[in-house]
Amino acid sequence: MRSLRTGLSLAAVVTGAALLFTAPVAHAADTPLRDLADARGKVIGTAVTGSKLTGTYGDIAGAQFNSLTPGNAMKWGSVEPTQGSFNWGEADQIVAFAQAHNQQVRGHTLVWHSQNPSWLTNGTWTPAQLGSLLQNHISTEVGRYRGEIAAWDVVNEPFNEDGTYRSTLWYDGLGAGYIANALTWAHAADPAAKLYINDYNVEGVNAKSTALYNLVKDLKSRGVPIDGVGLQAHLILGQVPSSLQQNIQRFADLGVDVAITELDVRLTLPPTAASLAQQASDYRAVADACLAVPRCVGLSVWDYTDRYSWIPQFFAGQGAALPFDEDLRPKPAYRALVDAFVAAGPRPGSGACSGACKSGRPVRAAPRFTG
Ligand code: XIL
Repeated sequence: MRSLRTGLSLAAVVTGAALLFTAPVAHAADTPLRDLADARGKVIGTAVTGSKLTGTYGDIAGAQFNSLTPGNAMKWGSVEPTQGSFNWGEADQIVAFAQAHNQQVRGHTLVWHSQNPSWLTNGTWTPAQLGSLLQNHISTEVGRYRGEIAAWDVVNEPFNEDGTYRSTLWYDGLGAGYIANALTWAHAADPAAKLYINDYNVEGVNAKSTALYNLVKDLKSRGVPIDGVGLQAHLILGQVPSSLQQNIQRFADLGVDVAITELDVRLTLPPTAASLAQQASDYRAVADACLAVPRCVGLSVWDYTDRYSWIPQFFAGQGAALPFDEDLRPKPAYRALVDAFVAAGPRPGSGACSGACKSGRPVRAAPRFTG
C-alpha cells in the first residue's frame, strides 16, 4: 500500500499500461495529491462508502486522499434505524480504513433535517423528549469515536436561502438554541474534535452565508464551542462565486477554520472537452481560494469518482462532477488540484518537508472500546 503513495503511476495503478495513452492527465512522476496537501498542512479528502473501499477504488482512496468523510454511514438513519438498535458497521469500517492509511476522518453529520430514522421523524415528542433524544444521539455517536474524528459536521444545513432558519424537526421543536446545545454536547463527548456547522450555497458572500456568519459570531461571543464552518461547495459548472476567497477570509477573521467539505462541480451530460476544461478551472479556483487563506484547512470532494457521485440521481441530466471519471481515470479537474497545490508552494516555515509532513492530528493508537 505504501508504494502506491510514494511512487507508482496512478494510471498504472488504475488499469495498466494501456491507459497511459488514454489518461494523459496523470503521469508516472505524479506526486499523490495527499502528499502535496500534507506538505502544505492541508486536507485533501473524499467522501466514501465503506463497502466500496476495496480493489482499485480503495487503492486510489488510500493513495490520493489524507481525509475520509463517510458519505452516509454516520447519519442518524444509518446508525440507529430502529430506536435503541445501533448499526455502526459501515462507520467503523471507514474509520478503520482511515487509520490503516494514516488518514483523518471528518464525521458527517449529527443534526440534520434529512436521512433521519422514521421512528424519529414520525414520533410525537415534547420539546424535553426531543432535546434528550438529540443529546443522547450526539453523546453516543461522538463518544463512540472519541479521539478518532478530526472534525465533526455537527449541524448540517440549518439555513434557508434567505438566511432565516430552516423549519426542521429541530428548529420547530427546540428553537435556534438547538445549535448551541448540539455543539456543547459534542464538545463534551470529544473535547479534541473540531466542531463545524456545514451548509450549501454559503460559498460566496450572500444572505445565507451572512446568516451563518452572524450565527458563528454570536456563538463565539457566547463561548459556545464552534471551531469551523463547512462550505459544501456543490457547484455548477462555471459558477464558482467570485467572492469565495473573501467569504472564506471573513470567517477566518472571526477566528474559526473553514473547510470546503463536499466539493463537486456538476455539468450537463455528456461531458465535452470544453466542459471538462471549464470544470478543471473551477476546481482550480476553489482550491486557490482555499489555499490563499491560512485558516482554510483544505477541501474534500463528495466522492472522488463520477462512478459513485450523488449528482445524477439528484440533478437530472447533470453529472461528471468529480475529479476522476467513471473508469477511475483522473480528469482535467484532478490535474487542476495538483497544479493548485504545487502553485501554493510549501507550508511557510516548513523547510524541505520531504515526505515527513503530516496533516491533521495524529491518529490515536489505542483501539476503540467496542464492548
Ligand atoms: C448525499 C449522499 O451523497 C447520497 O448518497 C444520499 O442519498 C443523500 O445525501 N449535502 C450533504 C450530504 O450534506 O450529506 C449529502 O449526501 C449531499 C448534500
